[in-house]
Amino acid sequence: MNITIIGLGYVGLVNTLFLASKGHNIFALDINKNKVATLKAGKTTIIEPHFQELLTEYSNNIRFTTNHKDALRNANMIFICVDTPQGNDGSVNTTNFYNCLATIKESITNDVSIIIRSTVPVGTNKLTCDYFLDSPYKVDIISFPEFLSQGKAFEDLTNPMRLVFGVNDQKGVQIAKSLTTLFDIKKIPVMITTPINAELIKYASNSFLAMKISYINNLAQLCDAVGGDIDKVSTGMGLDPRIGSSFLNAGIGYGGSCFPKDTNGLYWIANNNSIKMDLMLSTIEVNNSQIQYFLNKIYRRFRSLNNLNIAILGVSFKGGTEDVRNSQAIPIVKALLEKNANLFIYDPLAVDNFIPLFSRHIHIDYPASIEDTLKNADFVVILNDSNEFKQLTAQFYIDHMKNPIIFDGRNLYRLEDMKNVEYHSIGRPSISKRK
Ligand code: UDX
Repeated sequence: MNITIIGLGYVGLVNTLFLASKGHNIFALDINKNKVATLKAGKTTIIEPHFQELLTEYSNNIRFTTNHKDALRNANMIFICVDTPQGNDGSVNTTNFYNCLATIKESITNDVSIIIRSTVPVGTNKLTCDYFLDSPYKVDIISFPEFLSQGKAFEDLTNPMRLVFGVNDQKGVQIAKSLTTLFDIKKIPVMITTPINAELIKYASNSFLAMKISYINNLAQLCDAVGGDIDKVSTGMGLDPRIGSSFLNAGIGYGGSCFPKDTNGLYWIANNNSIKMDLMLSTIEVNNSQIQYFLNKIYRRFRSLNNLNIAILGVSFKGGTEDVRNSQAIPIVKALLEKNANLFIYDPLAVDNFIPLFSRHIHIDYPASIEDTLKNADFVVILNDSNEFKQLTAQFYIDHMKNPIIFDGRNLYRLEDMKNVEYHSIGRPSISKRK
């Protein structure tokens, strides 16, 4: 079977590598010439566990290209993996997706199955079917949303929690079944449903997880107000399997390329269908408010930040990724710069992506080690949950800071381990005095 993957971001690249590792021959198409050149040269464009090794090992099974005619001429199966970014009004921008359909329509030379892996608004499968009605070829459209998390994209694809397919007819059911064998994944729930349901399941899942995070963050604010400890509260809640313990970590809120876009997208889709989804509005509002809530903790402790040196650990939207898209760190860094602070930022994975956002600001320095980042700092601010930061101990901060004052935006440490430093986190009592 000739498989073509269109769009070589996270979703496209991991699908390419995974299918190539299963012995399939893949055409991998992207319009970005630099990206394709890098991949052709055997270098991964995304920092993810296994990506480089897989690329090296299976590059013979992959033809990376920018030439859509070559990539689509004899394709039997086409995976659409292009991004659908958020529009200015919270809408879902499907321009790349529809450009991609136009390219497919003008380039295919036989019957094909189109597999939609991009996150697309409800009704897109139907619109795609309509779009190909006048094609001389039979085009089957299958919705096959992906649920991978950055930092463990390959693991999530190899070992998914479920496969969801949206199909239009019996032929679609067969294609969905052949996809499960193509992926060679066994013993996981497979759901074959209508395209509308599959499209909804993707938005509903991401938005539900985002809602859990905002719920726990809102509760964290309440814990601060009444003297509770959000870690204990979320642990106690999570013991109920109906609630579950995951995605109940309080902090400065969610960022990244999915949750902010998909919560807004679901709200927008509902609104377009005259349904009020205020839960989504609240989820988004709470998430945005966490940034100011965290900053206020700093502002209450330090009346002025003028000329203070602040160490920042972690600027990607979560640990283990180089991705800074919609990172909570961006507005926080901006706010601290507006207070005339000097920032020392450490995030070895994300630094190259972060530097251009502040165009080498004279009040930002990027030391090469945590030790150098901390050494002249008046206090340190932790913004993501990188394993490297999780492993640090109170003693480490004592050893490397003049005065160990920590603002932890991700609640990385147990309070009992931080007794000898000044430690502020979210939804938990501050440890204010060094003993
Ligand atoms: C998410 C979904 O998990 C995945 O299934 C979907 O396909 C794409 O979107 P991802 O964006 O990679 O994946 O990140 P995820 O690990 O879900 O974290 C999203 C954000 O929420 C991060 O900023 C993270 O720090 C934050 N988060 C997560 C919390 O603040 N608390 C939590 O308990 C969990």
